Amino acid sequence: MKVDVILGLQWGDEGKGKIVDVFTPSYDIIARFQGGPNAGHTIEFDSGKFVLHTIPSGIFHQKTLNIIGNGVIIDPFILMKEVSMLKDAGIQAHNNLLISRRAHLILPSHRLLDAALETAKGNAKIGSTLKGIGPTYTDKSARCGLRVGNITEHDFNTRYNQLKLVHFDLLRFYGFDLKNYRIDGLLFDEYEENWFQSIRNITEFRIIDSEQIINRSLDEGKSVLAEGAQGTMLDVDFGSYPFVTSSNTTSSGVCSGLGLSPHRIGNIYGVFKAYCTRVGSGPFPTELKDETGELLRKKGNEFGSTTGRPRRCGWLDLPALKYAIMLNGINNLIMMKTDVLDDLKEIMVCTNYKAGNSILTEFPFDLSSETLKPEYQVFAGWNRTITDKTSFQELPPELIAYIKYIEDSGGLPVDMVSVGPDRVQTIRKTPL
Ligand code: GDP
Ligand code: IMO
Ligand code: MG
Repeated sequence: MKVDVILGLQWGDEGKGKIVDVFTPSYDIIARFQGGPNAGHTIEFDSGKFVLHTIPSGIFHQKTLNIIGNGVIIDPFILMKEVSMLKDAGIQAHNNLLISRRAHLILPSHRLLDAALETAKGNAKIGSTLKGIGPTYTDKSARCGLRVGNITEHDFNTRYNQLKLVHFDLLRFYGFDLKNYRIDGLLFDEYEENWFQSIRNITEFRIIDSEQIINRSLDEGKSVLAEGAQGTMLDVDFGSYPFVTSSNTTSSGVCSGLGLSPHRIGNIYGVFKAYCTRVGSGPFPTELKDETGELLRKKGNEFGSTTGRPRRCGWLDLPALKYAIMLNGINNLIMMKTDVLDDLKEIMVCTNYKAGNSILTEFPFDLSSETLKPEYQVFAGWNRTITDKTSFQELPPELIAYIKYIEDSGGLPVDMVSVGPDRVQTIRKTPL
């Protein structure tokens, strides 16, 4: 058996959580392979709405195992908040959630460092989610991080304190106001106390060598789906650097983030919105700073699932989409939030980037608007509600033309179209 993959092709928030939940009944295992609680994956069904940050989006199906892989970084406090949110909804995560002992821990002082580094950047700040992502992956690469498997070791507290002291030295260097800064509403000492309680709670979960379990499960004929976080344009190598996250969000991250050979990778599904959004700073060639952008934000409820920040909105960007298809080796496209375009008379799509008078034939190093101008093609809107549609045959011809254009440009089929946030508002061309 091979591992299928679902990942985002834009700047995150494409609707990965919803699609993973829709796919889950067909899989034995769902595994997150990178990122941390910077992610906010929304799942809606039976009038309920849940946002997951660390726990894979398969958790609502009791028969499926959910694994937090080695490539993920975990804030125990945030993870335990998710566990208790699920418990309130009648879901016992302990039954089907497994955690890699190789996953790194986000320390409370990583959160402070994230804030200090952002402040120090001034206008050039990344717009980080302030969840400690950059500093934790930095420590992982610098080989001084702490991992889930260290929690039960005798010297865990000593190592924690050593690392915290290094962080505090750095914080002093940045002139950070340690005394008054609040993490999720709590002062440092309070947060740290809660964090240690959560560390103890983590050990009540099954802590595993996830690479062994996943490879063995595949050998036994079990099906595995890898769930990406963030999006391709936020990949640390290929995204709009430095305005990116600190992990490989692309399909290569599945191998390192779960301990899998490239031979093990099966179908790679690329999720994209029928338009584009971005939260945080950085270039966004098709951004709409006008009332159309406002309309997309309002109709699409484009406010961050993790931070509540308004998302920047713009038209679909085909050069970026094609780049993402290439980088990930996408087999099938899934178009999300199509209903958000329902009321538009005209829909634009960026077909090319221009620099000066020449059309760029390759995706550029620098995406900033000083050097780059998007060229657009206009499409007629469909001007009717599609949220109740259940088959491709029922979709308006204008939308079919829009999809066909994307398919021709990307060289791939759009196999699914999402027409609303609920699990059931998902139209498949062919059954899974
Ligand atoms: P993720 O991070 O990729 O999982 O995406 P988010 O959950 O951060 O953001 C997607 C948002 O769009 C969530 O609020 C979803 O409930 C919502 N959503 C997903 N698909 C659709 C859709 O087809 N139509 C509409 N209107 N909303 C959708
Ligand atoms: P999901 O999985 C959208 C963005 C942040 C910021 C940059 C770096 O829900 O799609 P970080 O906290 O990682 O250091 O922030 O990346 N970002 C996301 N944007 N969706 C996400 O995740 C994101 N995770 C990080 O806004 O611009
Ligand atoms: Mg999100």
